[in-house]
Formats: sequence, structure tokens, C-alpha cells
Amino acid sequence: MSDALLTVTDLQKYFPIRDGLLIERTVDYVRAVDGVSFEIPEGQTLGLVGESGSGKSTTGYCIIQLLQPTGGSIRFMGKELTELGRSDLRRTRRDMQIVFQDPYSSLDPRMTVGDIVAEPLKIHGVDTRRGRQAKVRELLDVVGFNPGFTNRYPHEFSGGQRQRIGIARALALSPKLIICDEPVSALDVSIQAQILNLLKDLQQEFGLTYLFIAHDLAVVRAMSDRIAVMNRGKLIEIGPAEEVYGEPREAYTQALLSAVPVPDPVAERMRKRVILKGDVPSPVNPPPGCRFHTRCWLYERLGQPEDCRTIDPELRVVAEAAGHRAACHHADEALKTDVGVAHIGAAALVRRGTPPAALASLAAAGKPDAPEELATPAFLDEGGTPEATTAADGFATESPDQTDTPTDLQSPF
Ligand SMILES: Nc1ncnc2c1ncn2[C@@H]1O[C@H](COP(=O)(O)OP(=O)(O)O)[C@@H](O)[C@H]1O
Ligand code: SF4
Ligand SMILES: [Mg+2]
Repeated sequence: MSDALLTVTDLQKYFPIRDGLLIERTVDYVRAVDGVSFEIPEGQTLGLVGESGSGKSTTGYCIIQLLQPTGGSIRFMGKELTELGRSDLRRTRRDMQIVFQDPYSSLDPRMTVGDIVAEPLKIHGVDTRRGRQAKVRELLDVVGFNPGFTNRYPHEFSGGQRQRIGIARALALSPKLIICDEPVSALDVSIQAQILNLLKDLQQEFGLTYLFIAHDLAVVRAMSDRIAVMNRGKLIEIGPAEEVYGEPREAYTQALLSAVPVPDPVAERMRKRVILKGDVPSPVNPPPGCRFHTRCWLYERLGQPEDCRTIDPELRVVAEAAGHRAACHHADEALKTDVGVAHIGAAALVRRGTPPAALASLAAAGKPDAPEELATPAFLDEGGTPEATTAADGFATESPDQTDTPTDLQSPF
């Protein structure tokens, strides 16, 4: 049996779609999470990436039991969470906390900073009032927030400061696992690095384990030991960060990585990116076969192979030693192309995932015109501003990102 702190197996969350005025009946389901499996060893970070609506937050909320899963298993610290009774679950919840995306809506505006951070301690009956006050000051100090401001209200502070308050609250019960659901997405770029550094420092200091959810691939890479990529409720690639960014094997992962800007101006001009065209398939009626095939550039390039249309690809091992798995019938073909290169932190023309021959010809060319073997295929753009890409997050997508922290969940404590 796995000795990971958290093991998620075949997790499902279907949201019912109801119809009928007098008598409501379920007419279908939104398959928000549809058979997701992964594990996180203690002290490590798993980065969970994917477009908006791919099921990342729902996965996180199911793990922390803010949402009841439809099916599957969640083992945390040796306990099966889906089978725990109410009081056992309450005790276990102390060990898993969440930091929400939006520090504006996730903090109660009517509560003082001190009360917000003390709330989980109070709910779990930890310490006396005086003891809690001392602990709150200690926690605020740890997250770099002035402990003298405990009597102030959240609206008096900037986004970065509010996220520090949210992190202090998450730390209050000394948890083992923290689910960070897009913790810096709502913050100014200049503030993001400070909060990421804080999360990293806290991980070191307290031996924390993170599920780090984000749609910004650069942010996830900076934080994660391993990366899991979600698309339409499924995990479609998982492996060590170096492997997934360096040798992405799934066409969707490659598309995401191809959209990440390169910090080198020459490489940036020559960057090949995939623009995902066509409508994002409905999570209610996903297409048969591979859910990505209606938008897959590799499917087009390979002449629309039948298996993509008829067989849902399983997550299979593509690099045994690294534990790298990908759900693509043509994962080996994907790696032979010039697409899907990770450019993050790249020096000069390092285009990870690109075949060495293509790399060499790019370097030799040293100019923005693509060499012949890099000719632009369907779905591929040669740089410039892609009409359907949100530049900052590196995603080629037409759907806007959701920034709201849900309000209809159970209490996280
Ligand atoms: N409470 C809900 N009821 C119905 N559908 C939902 C609910 N919450 C999320 N969804 C749907 O589930 C899918 C996954 O959503 P979410 O987990 O928020 O994605 P992500 O965090 O990756 O952006 C989306 O299609 C979303 O509309
Ligand atoms: S299985 Fe086919 S459609 Fe799916 S990602 Fe691979 S090539 Fe594309
Ligand atoms: Mg989300």
C-alpha cells in the first residue's frame, strides 16, 4: 500500500442538472471530475494545472470534503475520508486546510483580522481566548503580517496582505496538507512572487504538503515537485515537473506549454504555439473517444486516426523510472514534433521537448523564419498575438477564467 500522505483514486464528482418546475428531476450530470487518481508524498507539492473549468477546484474541494465526491477513494494519513463519520472527519479536517484564490471574497468583511485567524482555533476548541490571541499574533508574524493590526478589517488591506491573512488562518491548526487553490491568481504580478516565496518558506519550516492548483504554468512549475494536468474532468498527464515540462507527451499538455511566453526575445519570436480552436466540449456530454480530439492539433496532424475518435485513452506509463504517465494514444508521436515545448526559465534557445535536430536548425537559423521541418501545421501559429490566448496565463483558451471563490460550500473547518 502507498505510504503517500494523500492518495486519490478514481475520484468522481458529478453535479446533477435538474429540470421540472413542480417536481424536480435530474436530467443529466456535469462530469466535473471523472476518474482522477494521484498521490502526494509527505512534504511534496503536486501542481494541478488545466484550463478554466477542467475540474481543478472541484478536485480540491472533494479532497478537503467541502464537496461530497460522487465516487472514488480519498486516503489521507492512512484514513479513507469518504467513509469517516462526522466527528472523525471533523478531527481529520484539522490536518487539511485550504487557501482560496480570491483574498477579497474569502475573508469575512465583518470580522477583524484577529477573529478570522482565530476562527478555526475557536471552532476546534483550541486553547483559551488569551492563548488564541497569542497564537494569532504568532501566526501573523510567521506570514509577514504586522501582528499589531489584529483589530483591523480585511478591506483595509491590499490583496497580498489579505492572502497572508488567509494563509495564517490555514496554518492555525498546524495542518499537514494545504490545498492552495490559485492562491496568487488574483494578485498583482509584483506581489505573486512574495506570496509564492512565503508558501515555499512555510513548506520548509513546517514540512507542509501542498496540492497547488493554478492555471499559470510558470507559477506551478516554480512551486511543484510533480505536475498533474487536467482536461475536462480527467487527468491527462502526470509526472515529475522536469519531465512534464521537458518532455510533455500529451498533445493538450504540449498545447498549454507552447503558449507560455519565452523570456528570450529571439526565442520568443520563433516560438511555435498551438492555438486551441473550436468550442471547449461540454462537460455534460463529452465527445466520444479522447475528449480532446475535437480540438487536438496532433489528431489533425496524424490524419485523424480512428482510435482518437473511438477509444478514451488511459493514463499509461510513458517513462517508467520517472513515474511519468500520459493519456494519449500517440504519445510517442507527440514527442517527435516541434510543438509543445516548454520555454520557462529557458536560456537562449532551449526548447525543451523539441527534437535535437529541430533545436539545432533553429539555433543555426537564428532568425524568426521557421526552418522547413518546423513548417506551420494546422492549429499552429508562428508567434505574434494569438487571438484566443490569454497571454499572462499561457493558456490557449477562449473561456474566461473563473475568479470567484465559491460561496455555497460547507465550512472548511
Ligand atoms: N456547484 C456546481 N454545480 C454545477 N456545476 C459545477 C459546480 N461547480 C463547478 N461546476 C462545473 O464543473 C466544472 C469544473 O469546475 P471547476 O472545478 O471550478 O474547474 P476549474 O477549477 O478547473 O476552473 C465546470 O464545468 C463547472 O461549471
Ligand atoms: S489520443 Fe488522439 S486526440 Fe487525444 S491527445 Fe492523443 S492524439 Fe490527440
Ligand atoms: Mg478553479
